[in-house]
Amino acid sequence: MSREEFVKIELPEKRIPRYWYNVQADMPTPLDPPLHPATKKIITPADLEPIFAKELIMQEVSAERYIEIPEEVRDFYKKYRPSPLFRARGLEKALNVSSRIYYKYEGISPVGSHKLNSALPQAYYNKKQGIKRIATETGAGQWGTALALACKFFDLEAMIYMVRVSYEQKPYRRSVMELYGGKCVPSPSTLTQSGRDALAQNPDTPGTLGIAISEAVEDAMSREDTNYSLGSVLNHVCLHQSIIGLETREQLEMVDEYPDVIIGCCGGGSNFAGIAFPFIPDKIAGKNIRLVAVEPAACPTLTKGVFAYDYGDVAGLAPIVKMYTLGHDFTPSGIHAGGLRYHGESPLVSRLYHDGLIEATSVLQNPVFEAAMTFAQTEGLVPAPESAHAIRTAVDEALKAESEGVAKCIVFNLSGHGLLDLAAYDQYLSGATQDIVFSEEALQESLKTLPQI
Ligand SMILES: Cc1ncc(COP(=O)(O)O)c(C=O)c1O
Repeated sequence: MSREEFVKIELPEKRIPRYWYNVQADMPTPLDPPLHPATKKIITPADLEPIFAKELIMQEVSAERYIEIPEEVRDFYKKYRPSPLFRARGLEKALNVSSRIYYKYEGISPVGSHKLNSALPQAYYNKKQGIKRIATETGAGQWGTALALACKFFDLEAMIYMVRVSYEQKPYRRSVMELYGGKCVPSPSTLTQSGRDALAQNPDTPGTLGIAISEAVEDAMSREDTNYSLGSVLNHVCLHQSIIGLETREQLEMVDEYPDVIIGCCGGGSNFAGIAFPFIPDKIAGKNIRLVAVEPAACPTLTKGVFAYDYGDVAGLAPIVKMYTLGHDFTPSGIHAGGLRYHGESPLVSRLYHDGLIEATSVLQNPVFEAAMTFAQTEGLVPAPESAHAIRTAVDEALKAESEGVAKCIVFNLSGHGLLDLAAYDQYLSGATQDIVFSEEALQESLKTLPQI
């Protein structure tokens, strides 16, 4: 197949990967161990068992390079995988660049984003263990939607704590969660002590992923039949998402391409990990490839945070992990990319960033929406505001290459569609979207609350 002949590169259903790729097997520096939030001692798998399925805990600590995808999960993957890899010919033409831009489209999943890639195995392993109900948090609502559907597929109840600002900005995400049979409440809620404490401190809080995580963990700890599930950050979530990069590699090979740069937006890090980690062995072997994580300037965890042990949540119920963090007390502004409003970062992404194997950059809201609009008008797809961060950087990379007189192969992950984010687009079109200035002062205040290890 000649590179010039196609617009989308598709793999047949039987080529859905049979194994996930575990980057832990190849990391030059192993992860620092997670710590128990109460004792601050190294956490054991047994400490995690009250809230996580055993097989997920094993995956969390596994050093196996490849982990088999259960057939039951692969059967559901068949509904939407392999996802297509598109050549962004319309975008290239509009930018007038000679670089080749590709995007892996995860918005094709029934829920509209990559999140189902991990929701399915998480629901499956919990069901296999006899769990009846899963509690979780959601930022923009994409993860909550994915978990609600996965729970329905595996006959489990889903309880979703949705960050209040997104609950109000994106009412239809709640509708979808309920349509799938999930229960969704705005966080902070009055259902948990963590929620009540957050409300007592600030009744008008927009909520944060950190608070919503505390609520979901507390919910899971208080019930025998319930486990907790996290849609990003953790090693097993990055493992499940590796299916994105594994497919992308094959698709690029089909047209004799190898990427100069791979780009993914970065909230907790899972979709970026998904597209980038399968290329890490090449990077370690000295191959000339750049892996770029893109975060919002309003919540610049990698680019402005510190590499330190911190709580994954606000109430200090979740494990303490070594990661890039803005401090668990940091309340990011209510930007439209709600899925990128997280104070911390995947420990795997953090370690690889610290070791110089990946890069990070941050972008402002208005330029992100501007790139999203160009993309919508040239490729026809309305991107999720989160994914539009990757588009912005892909566009910037292509323009930069052009100004240097070179043509590059640029690949980004279009992690989700934005058809339930139209209120955000309306605001942008009316000129009301603000480029929020990051507060160094607030960061310094929040960093004071890092746990003393
Ligand atoms: C479409 C989309 N992309 C990206 C993200 C960010 O999460 P992560 O960094 O785990 O991929 C989210 C989170 O909600 C999302 O909904």
